[in-house]
Amino acid sequence: MEFRTLKEPELEKWFYHCASVFGDNQNLDYWLDYFKRHYFNDPFRDISSIFVAADGSSIASTVRLFYRKIYFHGKEITVGGIGEVSTKPEYRGMGLASKLLCMAIDTMKEKKLSISILFASLHNFYGKFGYKVLPREFCLLDRDAFQKYLESKTTQIGEVKEINLSDNNIEIMDEIYKLYSANFNGPVVRNREYWLGWVKFEPKKCLGYFIDGKLAAYLFYRKNGKEVIILEYGCSDLSSQEIPLMEFIKFIMEGEDAQTIKYPKAIGFELTGSAELKDNSLMVNLITPFKLGGLLVDSTERLISILTREPDKFLFWGTDNF
Ligand SMILES: CC(C)(COP(=O)(O)OP(=O)(O)OC[C@H]1O[C@@H](n2cnc3c(N)ncnc32)[C@H](O)[C@@H]1OP(=O)(O)O)[C@@H](O)C(=O)NCCC(=O)NCCS
Repeated sequence: MEFRTLKEPELEKWFYHCASVFGDNQNLDYWLDYFKRHYFNDPFRDISSIFVAADGSSIASTVRLFYRKIYFHGKEITVGGIGEVSTKPEYRGMGLASKLLCMAIDTMKEKKLSISILFASLHNFYGKFGYKVLPREFCLLDRDAFQKYLESKTTQIGEVKEINLSDNNIEIMDEIYKLYSANFNGPVVRNREYWLGWVKFEPKKCLGYFIDGKLAAYLFYRKNGKEVIILEYGCSDLSSQEIPLMEFIKFIMEGEDAQTIKYPKAIGFELTGSAELKDNSLMVNLITPFKLGGLLVDSTERLISILTREPDKFLFWGTDNF
């Protein structure tokens, strides 16, 4: 078995490996599209951050490192995201994924990245490498509870419309994003290429809230059965953040056959009758200690304690999930 980074001519084989393992050999086209999109639309991609265990010409296992920056207490910190962790069934339990994860962690240390994050349910597996769960909360709002809330409101200043991510809209959304999302801990720092590549092509519906013809807020969502999942939200007027959100939800409830809407609690739209959902899918790991004001963040425990001290300040938009 050879442990190394992927070579350019092996990319197609690698997409196929990831798709067949994650899709369990079902829905191959869906999974191929997913992995190709997440590779080619990522402006920070680097083939030497894809680690593979190769058995002759066959890929037995892989781990991919995603390079990102996130907003953290008003600063930007470097992040190594771990994804595409997959071993073909016949090679499992031989330590392949563990070895590749160690290679990825060594690379993050060499590059002095601040933290690593990943999305997983296998907490014990990643726990062995120092990853710890960063609990997040979501709200689940049902149609009836929203209807009751709506009856007590009359405000309507703007107009909600479906929009596309044209260059012009993206420019305004980026301005809104910097105003709104940079106040939280966790949102990905985006450049124009990331907007035009990754953000534009992630599957979703996009809504805009217009005041006097000007885009004042936007929302991305996708539907999963009878549930609508809000992937991302941003508004330019921080003093009345609730109004566009309420109008967006009203628009979605009128147009979609949906029973519930799920969104991160951090966006601050808590209504009587909405349920709270705990989510333990995000894990973090401190890679290189860093300073925050006068405070040294020198362990994963300390990182988590800082992030959970103000739980409603942590956000990672669904659009950026890998
Ligand atoms: C998870 C996965 C990558 C592990 O690959 P692997 O090469 O067999 O991993 P290793 O041999 O290095 O380590 C296996 C360890 O993971 C644990 N593990 C593997 N699959 C597991 C599962 N489904 N549930 C719980 N633990 C699991 C094993 O118990 C083992 O732990 P041990 O070393 O303490 O005995 C592989 O099972 C896989 O590809 N699964 C399908 C895709 C997937 O779920 N990826 C993870 C997404 S977060």
